[in-house]
Amino acid sequence: MASACALETSGTDDFQVVRRKKGKRQQKQLGSSQETSLNVIDDSHVDLESLKRRVNKCRDELLVTEFYSNLLKTLERAVDSAKDSTHNDTTTEITSVAAVNSSTHKAETKPNIDRKSTNEHTPETSHGKSSLPKDARMLVYGLGNFASCVIARYQLALVLALRQHWQVATSKCEMYDPKFSELETGMLQDLGCSVLQQNEEGKRRMQGVTIVLMPHCGKALFNNLLWANWSPRQLQQMVVMGNSFSNMVDSIPERLWKKHINYVSLISPHCTEEAVNNTFTHTDIFNDLSVHWFPASRLLQLPAHTWSHAPQPVYDATDLEIIVNSSS
Ligand SMILES: C[S@@+](CC[C@H](N)C(=O)[O-])C[C@H]1O[C@@H](n2cnc3c(N)ncnc32)[C@H](O)[C@@H]1O
Repeated sequence: MASACALETSGTDDFQVVRRKKGKRQQKQLGSSQETSLNVIDDSHVDLESLKRRVNKCRDELLVTEFYSNLLKTLERAVDSAKDSTHNDTTTEITSVAAVNSSTHKAETKPNIDRKSTNEHTPETSHGKSSLPKDARMLVYGLGNFASCVIARYQLALVLALRQHWQVATSKCEMYDPKFSELETGMLQDLGCSVLQQNEEGKRRMQGVTIVLMPHCGKALFNNLLWANWSPRQLQQMVVMGNSFSNMVDSIPERLWKKHINYVSLISPHCTEEAVNNTFTHTDIFNDLSVHWFPASRLLQLPAHTWSHAPQPVYDATDLEIIVNSSS
């Protein structure tokens, strides 16, 4: 997991990249459930209006780039594939153990609570054209502290640009990062996003075509997301923009795949992965990312046992790169 945060040096939008060293203390804490209380950034001094202006400035900067228009083309192709798959759904009969397990899990942790906002609104479209079905969603995990980190701020700007492009309604644009501060949560709600109340550890079941953005997130978060949607019917609805699955698989010895990235390694050869061409001015924001989608035509070629045995992933607390739900 690339872990770099560009912190602002002053009140301006200039920034420097600060790489956090993995010291003994941090390594120890990474796997612990107490990590939820780690690095809570004090951003009480941040002026909300000025932060909103900065995010808007990032979005305006992004919108006119070749990077953005290329990324949009890739995402539109991926979304069209997901949309076609769900319209011509021939996979109704194929369910998975994960689907059953997941609904049990949901009952325990209620991860799919729709936090209906009182100020529900749909943003105006930027280009007058939307190719996303009406019930389409966006889900964003692991954005980071955008009040203090410029990388996260540009990533938020991308989320807002995409949300506007596809006119995704408030209740359908959901976000979660255990490190969001109160100020950040409030601002996201002001901007028309729903902030999830619980740490689902990425185990959210798709409810229609969903663009999932997970920039530079921990491997277990991707693995959990795949597990929770482990059937052709579920997977085909998702478009995942995040760390490259194929790089993840290549970076881990094969004997450890099952333990760390079982579902990523199983699906990687059978999904479509397109690397994000990182031509953006600031090279540490959208680096090492890919767009992944899961065409039904490919998934349906896999033998039935691929889906029938799907145990919930269990990880070693010592090498976990995500923050776990301390209440589960
Ligand atoms: C390496 S940072 C990436 C931050 C930022 N997106 C970037 O590119 O610099 C990983 C992020 O994942 C978040 N994260 C960890 N566990 C999570 C969980 N269970 N659900 C959602 N996000 C999580 C962390 O709080 C952190 O902000």
